[in-house]
Amino acid sequence: MRLLVTGGAGFIGSNFVLHVLRERPAWRVWNLDKLTYAGNLENLASARGDPRHQFIKGDICDAAVVERTIADQGIEAVINFAAETHVDRSIADSEVFIRSNVLGAHVLLDVGRRRGVKRHVQVGTDEVYGSLGETGCFTEETPLAPNSPYAAAKAAADLLCRAFARTHGYGAIVTRCSNNYGPFQFPEKMLPLMIANAMHDRQLPVYGDGMNVRDWLHVEDHCAALLLALERGRPGEVYNVGGKNEWRNLDVVKLVLRRLGKPESLIRFVADRPGHDRRYAIDPSKIMAELGWAPRVAFEEGLSRTIAWYRENAAWVANVTSGAYQDYYRAMYQVDEQGRVRR
Ligand SMILES: NC(=O)c1ccc[n+]([C@@H]2O[C@H](COP(=O)([O-])OP(=O)(O)OC[C@H]3O[C@@H](n4cnc5c(N)ncnc54)[C@H](O)[C@@H]3O)[C@@H](O)[C@H]2O)c1
Repeated sequence: MRLLVTGGAGFIGSNFVLHVLRERPAWRVWNLDKLTYAGNLENLASARGDPRHQFIKGDICDAAVVERTIADQGIEAVINFAAETHVDRSIADSEVFIRSNVLGAHVLLDVGRRRGVKRHVQVGTDEVYGSLGETGCFTEETPLAPNSPYAAAKAAADLLCRAFARTHGYGAIVTRCSNNYGPFQFPEKMLPLMIANAMHDRQLPVYGDGMNVRDWLHVEDHCAALLLALERGRPGEVYNVGGKNEWRNLDVVKLVLRRLGKPESLIRFVADRPGHDRRYAIDPSKIMAELGWAPRVAFEEGLSRTIAWYRENAAWVANVTSGAYQDYYRAMYQVDEQGRVRR
């Protein structure tokens, strides 16, 4: 298989590239990534020198680059991870979200269709469904009701996939996954942020009352689901991916503190995120029944492994959290030079 992975220098994309090189030794991977603040070639250090993996620095919105890559390399399948992904950033400024997450996804579909790509996976999120009450789960039939600009842009890409499959018979498949955790996640996201702050005895900013519920899945389980969808998913279909593993944010934060032997007094409640969805929960029965997927990593074990990874890779954290990120973090949570959260 000649596979184009886009956004393969980010958190899930890099895990997926390494997963494919391990699990499908005969495949060749072209990895197109713009290297935004969230993309980091260090994530792919273990694939350095592997002739089966070729990195191309480029933007998925650039049709000429996408066309050249797909045509010249005889690409047979595409999986799109490339996106702006941080909800808070989409609240501050949504334009780049529309560009990369909507227009970029469209360029990939359009070029892929014209160039005879056979299979195309759009990596989507459960955030497109909006927020749940106390009970129930998102199924693939749940109406889309995105609440953040990030989620709205992701929903637009999902609908373009549907339209390209229905109208052109293109082999586009959408997956919608819950919150991922694991190695190589940029430390602006909740889990790595909490781990890093706890490790350095800095305050842990928790939005609102901390009672928002998320459904956590280890990134390796997500990668396995994506590989199945790529190989065996039905074109035009949507597959929800989730671990049936709901946690309140505050409980996750307390668990991190316990694992690191740090006091709960480090927790600092901050003003809630506008439009903050209360609860997400995925019903993954379709992908389990149809493609035989099942999550394997138990949360408490996966969390321990993730904490150990961040402890052992302090240099990685230091490298990716550049000066620009430090400025963003201080502004976002109004943090002073001592790491105290003021908001
Ligand atoms: N992280 C999660 O919990 C989660 C859950 C469900 C779905 N997703 C989806 O999975 C995908 C990957 O998420 P992630 O957490 O790994 O994101 P990430 O922010 O860590 O990585 C995104 C990658 O895309 C690249 N990129 C951004 N814009 C680009 C562009 N215009 N052209 C080329 N490359 C570009 C970045 O450089 C980066 O390497 C996203 O589409 C996201 O919506 C993420």
